[in-house]
Amino acid sequence: MTESAFIHRFEPATSAGSPPLLLLHGTGGDENDLLGLGKMISPGSALLSPRGRVLEHGMPRFFRRLAEGVFDEADVRRRANELGDFVNDARQRYGLASPVAVGFSNGANIAAALLLLQPNVLGGAILLRAMVPLSDPPAADLAGKPILLLSGQTDPIVPPGNSAKLAALLSQAGASVTHRVLPAGHQLSQADVTLARDWIGKVDAKAA
Ligand code: MLT
Repeated sequence: MTESAFIHRFEPATSAGSPPLLLLHGTGGDENDLLGLGKMISPGSALLSPRGRVLEHGMPRFFRRLAEGVFDEADVRRRANELGDFVNDARQRYGLASPVAVGFSNGANIAAALLLLQPNVLGGAILLRAMVPLSDPPAADLAGKPILLLSGQTDPIVPPGNSAKLAALLSQAGASVTHRVLPAGHQLSQADVTLARDWIGKVDAKAA
């Protein structure tokens, strides 16, 4: 598996010291979707943005699902591992530090799976409208990894108990989790952008 197996966009950093971002789109999106969001959240960061390789009625995704919110978990594992390989290859090719994932919906779910399956790949993660990706995840060591989980109070796809369970799962693995439930549905709101930008600024300052 080489990084060329994922169609992707890469934009180099324009300021030193900002963490690279791994942008992971939602169902039906592509590698262009989150470039603008990435720039708003962390201007100056390098941006690595792959396109999901699974097609659902022509819509790109990062793994197969059996129904909305019901995942093909064997495929989740396989695809998350492929994504981990892609990130490792891309880091070498582009000379990047461990990226902070910024994932929305299906992209947030594959990021959560990647954290649990290959805990060393990501430096941290912003998970927008994520849910528990695996019913029986392996014991992962996420000690000290900063994770921001932003959920929508009225999200019709992710029940509140599910995002709370994901926050607990990641915390138990040692991650430093900030979970905020916003007055929003599944779609992103301005509050997501503001909170993500503030959070990454603080994570950055701590790492420097
Ligand atoms: C998923 O399939 O990952 C979730 O249902 C979110 C979505 O893509 O709609």
